[in-house]
Formats: sequence, structure tokens, C-alpha cells
Amino acid sequence: MLNLSGKNALVTGIANDKSIAWGIAQQLHAAGANIGVTYLPDETGKMERKVRDLTASLNPSLFVPCNVQNDEQVQETFKAVGEKWGKLDILVHCLAFANRDDLKGDFSATSRSGFALAMDVSAYSLITMAGAAKPLFTDGGSIITLTYLGGVKVIPNYNVMGIAKAALEMNVRYLAHEMGPNGVRVNAISAGPIRTLASSAVGGILDMLHHVEDSAPLRRSVSQKEVGNTAAFLASDLSSGMTGQVLYVDAGYEIMGMTDTRVKG
Ligand SMILES: NC(=O)c1ccc[n+]([C@@H]2O[C@H](COP(=O)([O-])OP(=O)(O)OC[C@H]3O[C@@H](n4cnc5c(N)ncnc54)[C@H](O)[C@@H]3O)[C@@H](O)[C@H]2O)c1
Repeated sequence: MLNLSGKNALVTGIANDKSIAWGIAQQLHAAGANIGVTYLPDETGKMERKVRDLTASLNPSLFVPCNVQNDEQVQETFKAVGEKWGKLDILVHCLAFANRDDLKGDFSATSRSGFALAMDVSAYSLITMAGAAKPLFTDGGSIITLTYLGGVKVIPNYNVMGIAKAALEMNVRYLAHEMGPNGVRVNAISAGPIRTLASSAVGGILDMLHHVEDSAPLRRSVSQKEVGNTAAFLASDLSSGMTGQVLYVDAGYEIMGMTDTRVKG
């Protein structure tokens, strides 16, 4: 049975009730995990209030600001985990960022600074968080990150984020190799397109969603809850033999070599 009671889970990347991280936090909580939440702080304090209100129903025992571009905040986050919980069992890395201008049009127009930004927030952040969390995984652990098919195959407009996701997926394998001897597993979920704040920045996201609904084997898109259920599985001992993997939660879209539904089987 899927049971996460007694497990401490730190969930990053909740911005609102559409966030994939919100779907994950709810399912980890439903499975009995003790939840900690990080949020991206802003000057107005608006994000903090919003995320605090949203997550109140999960009774988070830890609620900390963490901008992954700020090394001090990353260190402070895991210091707080150590002080409050003593150990960490589950780390959910569910965040990414790229300039809107770099998520449409010609890939060759990607700026140097836009490339560095996307890589820093979306890929490097997993390395730095895993490193800071490492000493806290005293009883084994599970690190879960979120990726997308655009890191493996060309998806129009995904552009620089595809490069960041390719790096992220490789980070998963190197971290799995490093942390495996300590019983820490590192896996990624490759989710199909879902309407969120982040995905709204990708040019043509609605067309992408409709295309998946028309042509994926399940003939629909996926929900935050479905991604959350897979995260709960990866966080639990039910997946104890798995590490370094990318699991597709995409209604089966990834298996298709031809998605034109006029061609009948
Ligand atoms: N929505 C999709 O279609 C889809 C599909 C596959 C993978 N993903 C991935 O899922 C993850 C979550 O995205 P989402 O779609 O739920 O969107 P979202 O906008 O709800 O979440 C993105 C999160 O990243 C956080 N973030 C951005 N910059 C940050 C920084 N510097 N420091 C800390 N946090 C920062 C934001 O605050 C936000 O909470 C991302 O990695 C995204 O690439 C999304």
C-alpha cells in the first residue's frame, strides 16, 4: 500500500492552484507525508500570502522562501529543514523559468543571457538543491523533478526550455549515480502539457494541448492529480527498485511516431 506516513516531504514550485507542484503536494499529503513548502518570494509579499493560503489545508510544518537563483536562500532552506525535521525523505523539484521571448519563434535567436537564465533556474537548481539536501537524507530518500518531452524531441516554441530539460534529465542520471549508494533515488516525471502559469508562456500551448487530446493513445491530456499520484509512487517504497528514470505521464503521447489521426490502424 502507498503509505508516506512518517516521511518528510519538501515541495518546491507551488505558485497557484493550477501548479503541478500543488497536485503533487496534495497527493503526498493524502498518502500521509508531513509537508514542507517553499515559495518564490517577491517584494510585495503577494506570492507568500497566496501560497500560504492555498497550502493551509495541508498544514505545512515548514514554509520557507526559496529563490533558486539565490545560493544563500537555498542553503537557508535546507538549514531550516535540518533544524525543524532533522531529516528529509522526499524532495520535489517542480520549477522552471525562461524568458517569454525565448519560448517562441526562432530558436537561433536565443540570447546568451536567456540561455543562461533558463539553464540556471530550470536545470542547475536541481543540482544545488540535491547537494544541499544530501546530508539530510539520513534514511535514504527520493528526489523527484518535472520534465517535458521537449527535452528529448523537438516541440515547436519550446526552444531554450528543451535544452534546459535535456540538461535536467541528464542531471537526474548523474545525481542518481552519486546518491544511489546512500539509498537516495532520483527520478523525473515527464508530464504531458497542462495549463499552468509556466506553460502559458510557451507559444501555442493551447494548440499543443488540443493536439495531445486528439492524438495521444488515451485521447486526452493529463491532470495535476495524475502527475501527483505518480510522484507519490516515486516517493514511496513501491518504487524502491527505480532510480535515474524518466517516467512519462502524458496519456501515452510519447510512444507515437505518427500522430495524424487520419491514418487509421
Ligand atoms: N505545465 C506543463 O505543461 C508542464 C509539462 C511538463 C513539465 N512541466 C514542468 O513542471 C514544473 C512546474 O511547472 P508548472 O507547469 O506547474 O507551472 P507553475 O508556473 O505553476 O510552476 C512553476 C514554478 O516555478 C517557480 N519558479 C520560477 N522561478 C523560480 C526561482 N528562481 N526560484 C524558485 N522557484 C521559481 C514559480 O514560482 C512556480 O511556482 C516545471 O519544471 C515545468 O517545466 C510542466
